[in-house]
Amino acid sequence: MAIREPKRPELWEETHSSDGHPYDERHFGQTFVHSNYRADLRAPRPQDWPRFIETGQVRDWSVLTWKDVGRPFRVENYASGKRLWEEQNGDRMPVRTSWQMFNRSFHRLFMQDVPEERRRLRRKLWERAIRFQWAGVGELLEEYEQLALWNFTHRVQDAIWDPRGKRGLFEGLGLERPRILFLGAADGYEAMQLYAMYPGGEAVLVDYDEFCATDRFGKFPEHYPFLGFNLATGSPRVWYKDQMNLSFVVEDIRNLPFGREFDVVLSVGLLEHFPDEFKPECIDFHRRFLKPGGIAILTTPRLQWKSRLFYHVMAEAMNYTYRELMTVQQMGLYLYENGFEILRHGIIKAHNGIVARPR
Ligand SMILES: C[S@@+](CC[C@H](N)C(=O)[O-])C[C@H]1O[C@@H](n2cnc3c(N)ncnc32)[C@H](O)[C@@H]1O
Repeated sequence: MAIREPKRPELWEETHSSDGHPYDERHFGQTFVHSNYRADLRAPRPQDWPRFIETGQVRDWSVLTWKDVGRPFRVENYASGKRLWEEQNGDRMPVRTSWQMFNRSFHRLFMQDVPEERRRLRRKLWERAIRFQWAGVGELLEEYEQLALWNFTHRVQDAIWDPRGKRGLFEGLGLERPRILFLGAADGYEAMQLYAMYPGGEAVLVDYDEFCATDRFGKFPEHYPFLGFNLATGSPRVWYKDQMNLSFVVEDIRNLPFGREFDVVLSVGLLEHFPDEFKPECIDFHRRFLKPGGIAILTTPRLQWKSRLFYHVMAEAMNYTYRELMTVQQMGLYLYENGFEILRHGIIKAHNGIVARPR
């Protein structure tokens, strides 16, 4: 197991300087579109939070039943890479292999220079058209459609990282220098956003796919600005990845060497990958590392037509693993039935979000 030691808090506080980082207080209230992501330093006023997180769908979790809320929707149009692997190996693809394939494929989407890629595809289409070479045009158009949807979802709408929705979910939790454990961390985005809002503790990122440590998190843009707070002054501040106290553990969540030592256990897009018979185990991951009084924060993709369209059009890039789309009511009921008290629940752009604590 590879554990990278976190930096000492004093060290990174002392060395903080905005030198070499593109954004600071002068950019508050603005947003900037880069070739592969959007930087967003807009902070909603308290009265505007409901535009970014819609809360309060359920009044009393104890009276909610599965009959009331129905069952999640399963995304079952798998990528051809998965089908091919299973044909060649004469077996079901192991879950871990499906994550390795997913992470490499998803990472390629995040890394592409969208305007450049658009120019490349247009050039290729034009070259074929002027020579009346129609073979392969269908595939190029399909690639173009996927790129357009990725551009709209990630660079225009910022619905995947969704900094304002996530900040709305993490707002007002009263955490002081928390120790945060991020289960299935992938690129680590949400732990960094949480850290920026509640700095001075540490975040431990866990993923059993080494590629997440080296690439998804390892190559996460150093210049991406996270809007949070300055611990010394209480004023808003821009944080960058290299200023945070983060470590990455490459290990299966089932084998972690930790006890009940974290203030926050976080997961983003994990629960919906466990069929119902394994959900109690997944939910227990969120309990077993919490200090008394600690909180679990979970998000899962929402059951909405936009998400169904996304996983339909992007199937080749995204659909390697078992995946459900659920409503916030369904997600909360899983947590409630498995011994959690729901402290906050709501919907953000593409996900449901819940803050809960063991009952
Ligand atoms: C769907 S991703 C989370 C979504 C994430 N925000 C992203 O951008 O991809 C789930 C992550 O959990 C990891 N994972 C799944 N099961 C795991 C386990 N048992 N132990 C450790 N990591 C696990 C996968 O490798 C994957 O990177």
